[in-house]
Amino acid sequence: MTITTVNQEEWVCNANDVLKLRLVCAHTSDPYEHPEGEYHQLLPQFTYSLFGPLQQIYGYKNLKIKLYYAAGSLVTYLDVSYDEKISDHLPGAKPTDVIGIIREYIPEGFMTNYDTFLQRVQKDTHAFVPMGEKISEYRLSDDDSTVYEIYKANFNTPGFKEYHSRLQLFVLLYIDGARYINEDDEKWEIALVFQKKSTGDSNIYNIIGYCTMYAFFFYEKCEGSKPLSEIKDISNELNETSNFSYSTRLRISQFLILPPYQKQDHGSRLYQALYRNLLANPWIKELTVEDPNDAFSDLRDKNDLMYLVENKIVEGLPIPLDKSKVEEVRRKCKLDQRQMHRCIEMLMLKRLN
Ligand code: ACO
Repeated sequence: MTITTVNQEEWVCNANDVLKLRLVCAHTSDPYEHPEGEYHQLLPQFTYSLFGPLQQIYGYKNLKIKLYYAAGSLVTYLDVSYDEKISDHLPGAKPTDVIGIIREYIPEGFMTNYDTFLQRVQKDTHAFVPMGEKISEYRLSDDDSTVYEIYKANFNTPGFKEYHSRLQLFVLLYIDGARYINEDDEKWEIALVFQKKSTGDSNIYNIIGYCTMYAFFFYEKCEGSKPLSEIKDISNELNETSNFSYSTRLRISQFLILPPYQKQDHGSRLYQALYRNLLANPWIKELTVEDPNDAFSDLRDKNDLMYLVENKIVEGLPIPLDKSKVEEVRRKCKLDQRQMHRCIEMLMLKRLN
């Protein structure tokens, strides 16, 4: 039946509520209909990048957007269903093009048939292995049989660009203000954390979180160095070299631990692994962070302070520290000036107390 007026409010829903995000491990039924399966349910935090500042979707009743990912390979399933659509009642009304919008943010090749998706999840569960170079591993406690492995990759790593294109939607959904990065830019380095469960003859890898980092040229004025004014086109010089074969300022851009794994120490373990890695790399001169939020600043402060205390970096130095001493410590720790001053201030206050 066609009507000419409708109560518009009845046709508006909150995108965060209707987007059903799942990380599917292995199970036999659609986790939305049969929640007893093996999967993680994720509640999106920010959908404004997709659906506008009000995070609202217009034109449907009982809308469900199922966006499921295989927990390791991130093979994707998308299904959009609803009971009623406004344009069926009000000709000319323009409901939000939900599938069209989501398609802009996820790569082609997603599945729309649940059984096909499930078969692929089951196949990938034992077949998927992380790409890139393993840089670290840890257990959350000594008696924990699960191992977590950290890998480093870039967009030249075989298969990684495709993997990242499936992964990157999570930064929009969980980091306020995040944007997609340029996958054609070779200066990006990405570290990924995987949970590894051993099952006799194979391992199952599930994604826990990841961090994107950009390798900037770091200009150091020292004996023999070219003045900055003589370096006309830094990108030309850098394109001839691989990342980290020139003095680098490494900037953490996006740092994400997926919600089911937050507050279990994974963020700290990832940060510590990255920090250890960069301390050992003579080409990396400084670590900076792009627009950190409070949660990340806390994590960073805590871990930097722990490093400074455990390694007795500022122990026994007279208060107030003189400028050259601070600079010496800063270069050694490869922290940026602001972070170094924050840490020293906190340590000095602790000593005065
Ligand atoms: N039980 C209880 N609490 C624990 C445990 C545990 N087993 N292990 C750690 N914690 C606590 C820590 O002590 C810490 O507490 P505090 O906040 O009171 O200091 C807290 O959990 C967080 O520490 P981690 O577990 O190491 O950190 P987490 O893995 O949760 O990662 C992060 C933190 C990255 C902020 C994560 O929550 C996240 O991804 N959030 C969403 C995205 C985001 O905000 N990213 C940062 C954006 S800024 C940028 O990208 C540069």
